[in-house]
Amino acid sequence: MQCDRIWRNARLATLAQRRGLGEVQDGVLACRGGRIVFAGVRTDSPSGLDAPDIVDCEGRWITPGLIDPHTHLVFGGDRAQEFELRLGGASYEEIARAGGGIVSTMKATRAASEAELIEAALPRLDALIAEGATTVEVKSGYGLALEPELTCLRAVRELGHRRAVTLRATFLGAHALPPEFAGDPDGYIDHVCREMIPAVTAEGLADAVDAFCEGIGFTPAQTRRVFEAARAHGLPVKLHAEQLSNLHGAALAAEFGALSADHLEHLDEAGVAAMSAAGTVATLLPGAYYFVRETQAPPIAALRAAGVPMALATDCNPGTSPLTSLLLVMNMAATLFRMTVDECLAGVTREAARALGLAAELGTLEAGKRCDLAIWSIERPAELVYRMGFNPLHARVFGGVG
Ligand code: NIG
Ligand code: FE
Repeated sequence: MQCDRIWRNARLATLAQRRGLGEVQDGVLACRGGRIVFAGVRTDSPSGLDAPDIVDCEGRWITPGLIDPHTHLVFGGDRAQEFELRLGGASYEEIARAGGGIVSTMKATRAASEAELIEAALPRLDALIAEGATTVEVKSGYGLALEPELTCLRAVRELGHRRAVTLRATFLGAHALPPEFAGDPDGYIDHVCREMIPAVTAEGLADAVDAFCEGIGFTPAQTRRVFEAARAHGLPVKLHAEQLSNLHGAALAAEFGALSADHLEHLDEAGVAAMSAAGTVATLLPGAYYFVRETQAPPIAALRAAGVPMALATDCNPGTSPLTSLLLVMNMAATLFRMTVDECLAGVTREAARALGLAAELGTLEAGKRCDLAIWSIERPAELVYRMGFNPLHARVFGGVG
């Protein structure tokens, strides 16, 4: 079989089965036309497997390219000052209610041009890429009015042209109440549903719709209306649910067949059951848990027992998770949430792909999938989870190139 490129003398973590890492010693991976055509043991490779470009991996490990399925990479300014207030004792919710928080980032975002938003986001995207990320989801949600939300989503599309990475854009208009609608959250939700979602769809700017269902966000009834509008426009949904309290948002998301429900620190048994029945992925965000000094961890054991797929993400945002490292996310998920090494690696590959509706295309080393790879100078996969602040990436391959 003639291919474009072959990686030999590699160890593979294929992530192809639900259990374990799908480890292959003396592995070979072959690529043609940007797709994996073979990934497995050398002795099983198709006869006559050949390519003009053969890479000797010298025993290094290959995993699927990493996937970050929940970020807010596009925003203006930062919230270092708010961080200092929190160090002085103020809580995240107190700051938000006093007009800080998301609304302060909204002001800085509205003041920035599309070009400035792109310039600010690029170093964050590059930090993810430098650790082997090949797919990143990016939400809007700091514009909170039609034009600035469109600007943020256009910035996401442009970022995808600037770098060799797959970006998925999510519309998060229902992130916080903008000052123009003070005292009238239902009026803002009307605006999100009747003006913003149709405009975003008309320009093809979003791959999904998200909302923040929370005491300082929107009620389940308001979230339901956003989901109904998304459905009417053919867009899948996901939800910031049960982060600070339990409003039963995850069950609502599951009712709409959501791709994922995210955060979930305060998720209850009924929410777990609803997600399990709907196949909704639990996207866990240990960086936000750590940074707001939350003490209640998501119900990992219950999610595991119910077979709910668990993805992991940075939640990169200026307020609750100024984090651009999927390697550190894995370490935090293991230490703070007691997730296993296998769960952590699946969380940033196979299950992250599922959380974006891309499981057929990405997330495992299997014939037919896109050839997005991360090649690591490590002796065993656990090193990717175990180390803190160290990057053992040797090479990154995007669509067979790199
Ligand atoms: O995912 N929870 C809502 N959204 C973000 C925080 C946004 C912010 O504080 O700027 C999150 O944690
Ligand atoms: Fe978030």
